Amino acid sequence: MERPNWAPESIDLDRPNAARIYDYLLGGAANFAQDRTFADKLLEVMPEARPAARLNRAFLRRAVRFCVESGIRQFLDVGSGIPTAGNVHEIAQRMDPACRVLYVDSEPVAVTHSELMLRDNDRAASLRGDLVEPTAILESEVAHKLIDFTEPVAVLMVAVLHFIPDSAAPHAAVARYVSAMAPGSFLVLSHGVELPSASRADEVDELYQRSANPGVRRSPADIERFFDGLTLVEPGLVWTPQWRPEDAEDVGEHPEASMVCAGVARKPLPA
Ligand SMILES: C[S@@+](CC[C@H](N)C(=O)[O-])C[C@H]1O[C@@H](n2cnc3c(N)ncnc32)[C@H](O)[C@@H]1O
Repeated sequence: MERPNWAPESIDLDRPNAARIYDYLLGGAANFAQDRTFADKLLEVMPEARPAARLNRAFLRRAVRFCVESGIRQFLDVGSGIPTAGNVHEIAQRMDPACRVLYVDSEPVAVTHSELMLRDNDRAASLRGDLVEPTAILESEVAHKLIDFTEPVAVLMVAVLHFIPDSAAPHAAVARYVSAMAPGSFLVLSHGVELPSASRADEVDELYQRSANPGVRRSPADIERFFDGLTLVEPGLVWTPQWRPEDAEDVGEHPEASMVCAGVARKPLPA
């Protein structure tokens, strides 16, 4: 297919990719025919995927507001995705223009779009990086410029860890970020959960095997291990719409249809 002028040379247009599939599910335009075909097939098998993406995004917004209200002024958003409505820097800087945000994603389209959006924002930047290579991210020049790790920071890993298999040691990688965080920092995380219906799970797995990000679902207990050494804030690890909803009605009768668990945890202050 023809390459649009905003599409970096390094991307494979023929292979559906998680960032662009998610962008399509959220109604964005930074996606290609292969991503849309994939997402349409996904929606046939699992029509909840689109509302689930929106609920995940709404959790992200509420969690960022919670962090700013709790005194956080710097954010490291790993697996940040293609910019869409309600980006982290927009929410945080609206509450306090002094907030600083570093976006990190492994997908070049996400990074290119973030760079374009942040051209005139000297308190936010975008970096291409892999979550499981924390040293490259934490010690990058741009991280040194934007994030002061001696001060509390919110590290966001929202709907990204389920694309990282156990063989890539995601728990060890997350522990490395946690050890870099100052006491009082937050880890904000959401993660796809094992599906109750095995037959649909198989169909979805088969579909994702053909994408650039095959994905892995974990049990709530395995997800909770990402928070080791931290204290989960209320209400703990719950379905995305159940995390501090703005209105009780937003939770709906079937929060589990969101298929994604979410939690925010704080690094304890020294006793
Ligand atoms: C479903 S999107 C989530 C975007 C955003 N965090 C949100 O929740 O709205 C997942 C993102 O994780 C990125 N991703 C997947 N594996 C990654 C990795 N190993 N390192 C960094 N980013 C990764 C994908 O490129 C994609 O942009």
